[in-house]
Amino acid sequence: MFIKSSADIKENEITPESVYRDRRRFMQMALGAGALAASPLASSKPGFMTETPLTSGPDWLAKQIAQAEAYDKKITDKLTPYEHVTSYNNFYEFGYDKSDPAKHAGSLQPHPWRVEIAGHADKTGVFDLEDLLGKVTLRERVYRLRCVEAWSMVIPWVGFELGELLKQFKPTSRAKYVAFTTLLDKKQMPEQGSRFSTIDWPYREGLRIDEAMHPLTILAVGLYGKVLPNQNGAPLRLVVPWKYGFKSIKSIVKIEFTEKEPATSWNVRAPNEYGFYANVNPKVDHPRWSQASERRLPSGLFSPNIIDTQLFNGYGDEVAQLYSGMDLKKYY
Ligand code: MTE
Repeated sequence: MFIKSSADIKENEITPESVYRDRRRFMQMALGAGALAASPLASSKPGFMTETPLTSGPDWLAKQIAQAEAYDKKITDKLTPYEHVTSYNNFYEFGYDKSDPAKHAGSLQPHPWRVEIAGHADKTGVFDLEDLLGKVTLRERVYRLRCVEAWSMVIPWVGFELGELLKQFKPTSRAKYVAFTTLLDKKQMPEQGSRFSTIDWPYREGLRIDEAMHPLTILAVGLYGKVLPNQNGAPLRLVVPWKYGFKSIKSIVKIEFTEKEPATSWNVRAPNEYGFYANVNPKVDHPRWSQASERRLPSGLFSPNIIDTQLFNGYGDEVAQLYSGMDLKKYY
């Protein structure tokens, strides 16, 4: 990965968690009363928020997101403010600096969007995102996101269980893995046309089928109760909270059931540094840096906010059994 310095965001640009919670309740009340999620609500709390529009996607999606089931688990981690989540990004299709995706991802057109479902399943084809979302339940999920570069965030995603979607296509017994592909389009994703790019586009990722079916694995379409911003992987991105962030592929156009372990972008580029599994593990260091601790954003020079990294990013109770008997140092 390409390590960059921390985001330089002023304190007054931060949306406090309580404001988000209040706004979410307010939005749900407004929707219940028949009012549609509309941008005027976005700047309804001057002094707390920047002028970020409340929604940037179509009305049907904004409405579905605002009505998502609330997260019912107790979270002890503090949420990373919206402004950090959406301005400190890795999305190399738009540049290599952490601030590049927020600056340049406006060229991406996430609506309308189609997703191909392919490979070893009874049902395959190309589907409108709207149709796919009509068949799943949207839920809020607050997850830690731990990047392999040793920084982390806590993000309230809105999404659905990947397994809920995959089961609808009836994967066959030959479906041992699930491969994901990002959009390939130099016009929308300029870095894909760069002669200096070091990634073999399109960005690709993959999971074992049992990892893909695990209830913690989601496809996100929103965050902080809003439509997913382009820089975070609109309109559809994977989130696998116990794995390093590079597994959470953005702007997905293809999902394929495969028999063999699929090739994945970072593993192809540097197999000794980035494994296929990429489970968060403080005891398995990256060859060039330690994974024992992480910088929890927001962090700065005088408050670096360094915390210990947890095995499986703290989701061991739920996922450790997926890897029983496996040598995690070998299958990193
Ligand atoms: N997906 C695509 N298509 N392209 C990318 O460059 N970067 C990955 C992952 N998904 C990436 C991607 C990496 S390295 C990380 S850490 C996360 O996205 C970052 O997600 P975020 O920007 O929403 O925090």
